[in-house]
Amino acid sequence: MSYNLLKGKRGIIFGALNEKSIAWKVAEQAHEEGAVFTLTNTPIALRYGNINDLATATNSQVIPADATSIEDLSMLLDKSQQILGGKIDFILHSIGMSMNVRKGLKYDNINYDFYHKTIDISAISFHKLLQLAREKDAINEWGSVVALSYVAAQRTLYRYNDMADAKAMLESIARSFGYIYGRDKKVRINTISQSPTMTTAGSGVKGIDGLMDFTERMSPLGNATAEECAGYCITLFSDLTKKVTMQNLFHDGGFSSMGMSYNAMSQYTKGLNAEVGDDE
Ligand SMILES: NC(=O)c1ccc[n+]([C@@H]2O[C@H](COP(=O)([O-])OP(=O)(O)OC[C@H]3O[C@@H](n4cnc5c(N)ncnc54)[C@H](O)[C@@H]3O)[C@@H](O)[C@H]2O)c1
Repeated sequence: MSYNLLKGKRGIIFGALNEKSIAWKVAEQAHEEGAVFTLTNTPIALRYGNINDLATATNSQVIPADATSIEDLSMLLDKSQQILGGKIDFILHSIGMSMNVRKGLKYDNINYDFYHKTIDISAISFHKLLQLAREKDAINEWGSVVALSYVAAQRTLYRYNDMADAKAMLESIARSFGYIYGRDKKVRINTISQSPTMTTAGSGVKGIDGLMDFTERMSPLGNATAEECAGYCITLFSDLTKKVTMQNLFHDGGFSSMGMSYNAMSQYTKGLNAEVGDDE
């Protein structure tokens, strides 16, 4: 059901790779809610994914950009304003990548070049985007910027590796820049901390099935889906949340406030005699 929550708003959506991507669902719902926007991803992702189908379905244009490149981000902000006919009202940063995770390197044996890349792609790109947008005065007053995070920023979760460090930094950037951009231009900046979700990035984390089963059992409302996450993003882009800023907002069915649930305990006690695996 649509409520016209984003009628007349212009946006930029980063990170739609394929139908499973959280950004894909956000684009679909933003379109339904009356927004116009540009879509962006890396040139490689444009080749491997099917973002052009999404562009056709949402009547939007795709602008290739690597979110670690200042030149690309600058061109993206300029072009988006030209195409959409004015300043931007909302931006979704839905970007994450770790070569250490991809290559199966453990946290106590990571490759530092990969580590730099993880932080640059998954966190510093957010700062670059905000700094450029502010320099160019590209976002309208009461605009809204959302980045996607994960509870591993606060708590250690087996195998999340250097992405945990990137998410902690991402959330800190939202607070630090949220102060400056809010004070000067009334732009709000938040992160949404989403449940584990079976997307391309999510499936890169070894053992995501087990993790999703655990968080499903631990959360009173169950895991939040990509579609539900998109719905939450839309509320944050809308005028109904104008005074929400500098927050990390958990969208996880209650997982982050739980210690132990009946469902998880029942499952755990079944396996008490099972052999303990490796200690990554
Ligand atoms: N899937 C999960 O379990 C989960 C949970 C919490 C948070 N998140 C976060 O949600 C966001 C979206 O991930 P997703 O799960 O939809 O997976 P996804 O793989 O569909 O999206 C990740 C996107 O990042 C893009 N990307 C990678 N490097 C880039 C670069 N240099 N410049 C621009 N874009 C780049 C990829 O092309 C891809 O589109 C990420 O920040 C991820 O960490 C995911």
